[in-house]
Amino acid sequence: MIRLSLLKELAHTHGTPIFVVDHDAIRRNYAEFRRYLPRVHPYYAVKANSDPAIIRTLFVIGSSFDVASIAEFNLVYDNIRDLPAEERQNYIWDKVIYSNPIKDRRTLQELDQYKPLVAFDNSEEITKIRRYAPNAGLALRIRVPNTGSMVELSSKFGASPAEAVDLIAMASDAGLVVEGLGFHVGSQCANFENYVQALSTSAAIMEEAQTRGYSLKLLDIGGGFPVRYDPHVRPFRELARILRRELDRLFPKELEILAEPGRFMVGSAATLVAEVIGKSERDGKPCYYINDGIYHTYSGILFDHCQYEIKSFRKGPKQISAVFGPTCDALDTISQAEALPDLKLGDLVYTENIGAYSHASSTWFNGFPPAKVVHVNE
Ligand SMILES: Cc1ncc(COP(=O)(O)O)c(C=O)c1O
Repeated sequence: MIRLSLLKELAHTHGTPIFVVDHDAIRRNYAEFRRYLPRVHPYYAVKANSDPAIIRTLFVIGSSFDVASIAEFNLVYDNIRDLPAEERQNYIWDKVIYSNPIKDRRTLQELDQYKPLVAFDNSEEITKIRRYAPNAGLALRIRVPNTGSMVELSSKFGASPAEAVDLIAMASDAGLVVEGLGFHVGSQCANFENYVQALSTSAAIMEEAQTRGYSLKLLDIGGGFPVRYDPHVRPFRELARILRRELDRLFPKELEILAEPGRFMVGSAATLVAEVIGKSERDGKPCYYINDGIYHTYSGILFDHCQYEIKSFRKGPKQISAVFGPTCDALDTISQAEALPDLKLGDLVYTENIGAYSHASSTWFNGFPPAKVVHVNE
């Protein structure tokens, strides 16, 4: 957690709203992931927060990357642009996965020169990859339970386990190389049983594939590693203990295992500081209007289904209050029930753990720009 006095100082220097990214926290999260899951290579899911400085910090400490669009690919590529061609190619092959199962043909055409590893989950995609990116390696994404995860993904992506080996066979028959299998248990997955089931399904598919003559080299256990937005979320080390046990029980030592953590790397690494720009009372409830909202850093409330706590620097007896963003839309309601002291115009408020899927979906709606990003401990 960034010191409150530093947050105030930064707000004073830069104005508000500011989105303060603590790079020490990113390095700590990465180190924690490596420490508790030494067998798993983390590929940072750039979509969680694609700020180039965040990518740079993770690049420097040796992270691999999960990208899901050409723009994200290029943000990672910027870090290796000056390497000799062979080293650059090896980096992409070893450390980048294009994880979006659905790819525009133009994207595939552009990607093909880099021979990346790409995800797929259906036969149409095999036809497209064969035609436009025949040099790519493939990872089949399967559908696994997303029960209880904050963001559900299985209604959109993942081949049914029953058709998995047929799809691997189809891709091989098309002359493509299927390197492995992957899944995503849903983002902010506090139900660790999802991982247990997904691993067991993956092991069964790999065994069936082996029997049919397809030997897979890698397993991608996706993202979903939860941030402790509240104390009910069990710590990462508990999930890691379960994962280590299941990975060792179900898969051979030589299998390469990778993961695509997004939220886990950056969620706890940023704090938003905003300012009270208006105040009223409606139906007896204090209402505060602040200069960041649902169309901006708090967009995660809508898109990510994440509920954030708003804290004030001012002390005093608290009352249930409403907090609104700055735009003219009533959808721009951050909270109808936030415990806050009596705030004054110009007071600062802040929200911790707002690093993932927040600034990434900020807009310019109504002419209000996204919060200014301020990096500390870079
Ligand atoms: C394919 C894929 N990989 C990784 C992630 C990152 O997931 P998380 O932020 O839950 O770790 C996502 C998130 O939507 C995703 O779709």
